Amino acid sequence: MNQPHIFITRKIPMEKLSLARQLGQVDLWDDDLPPSPQALLEHVQGVDAILCLLTERIDAEVMDTAGPQLKVISNCAVGYDNIDVAEATRRRIPVGNTPGVLTDTTADFAFALLMAAARRIVEGNQFARQGKWKTWGLTQLLGQDVTGATLGIIGFGRIGKGMAKRARGFDMRVLFYDPFGQDDPYAAEVGAQAVDLDTLLRQSDFITVHSPLNRETYHLIGEGALAKMKPNAILINTARGPVVDPQALYHALKGGVILGAALDVTDPEPIPANDPLLSLENVIITPHIASASVETRGRMVEMALDNLRAGLHGERLPNCVNPDVYR
Ligand code: DGY
Repeated sequence: MNQPHIFITRKIPMEKLSLARQLGQVDLWDDDLPPSPQALLEHVQGVDAILCLLTERIDAEVMDTAGPQLKVISNCAVGYDNIDVAEATRRRIPVGNTPGVLTDTTADFAFALLMAAARRIVEGNQFARQGKWKTWGLTQLLGQDVTGATLGIIGFGRIGKGMAKRARGFDMRVLFYDPFGQDDPYAAEVGAQAVDLDTLLRQSDFITVHSPLNRETYHLIGEGALAKMKPNAILINTARGPVVDPQALYHALKGGVILGAALDVTDPEPIPANDPLLSLENVIITPHIASASVETRGRMVEMALDNLRAGLHGERLPNCVNPDVYR
């Protein structure tokens, strides 16, 4: 019997690769960098399944090039804005993602960014290493208190809720805004209060973004939103870069409209070395690593393989973002 053809767009741990090889004939993009769009098109020709990362744009051209036998697209990420899901649905191709498994790892990291920005940990580290630490100073590297401050959470999904849970331990007042979940029962459990976006922007000391990227959230945090924030506000983004307008953020940080920012995601990614944001001291930038723990990344690959397996066997994907394909 002919084995199904699978294209995996990046190196995966060896033991996971052996699992993939049990499912079919694997073409592995054995590199640390993603395939170029051209290479992607070359490698998807005739495949039955694609296991991709968030760096690969899977659109109609990729699906056309793959051909009508393409049975499943499995994204090794919870976010799936890199995939034209509407197009996949039209073709009845199920798209899988990896929700849940990275919630705590990502919320831990977002909270770590919040703390680091509030207490100027990255600046302090540089200060010590660069020999600038001459004495204990009463006004040296003063930061902002986290305990008792107001946290505004934009997007009250799993990770947003994880932030609310963590904020409780710091006696924070927690506000949240989510167009889909303003009545969420979990809010009462963690003492979070649903507010409109305007109130959240005006009242929060820390604003953390946990919305998916879509037409509604593109540049949600732009010049207008930044102007409403408090001058001591610190913005944290671990969701998707384009939810924040980078130019507006640069001007707000440079002009003192807000105090600081901590970004694990940028627009574009990777951030170019000459990006003006990198010239500012009041911004921390990390390379999209909020879910990057050994355990979590391993489990994400396993979940992506489970989706792949189900798709190849014509079964319902355990985590399918377009269940309409089963109607
Ligand atoms: C995701 O899964 O969408 C994250 O951005 C990477 O873990």
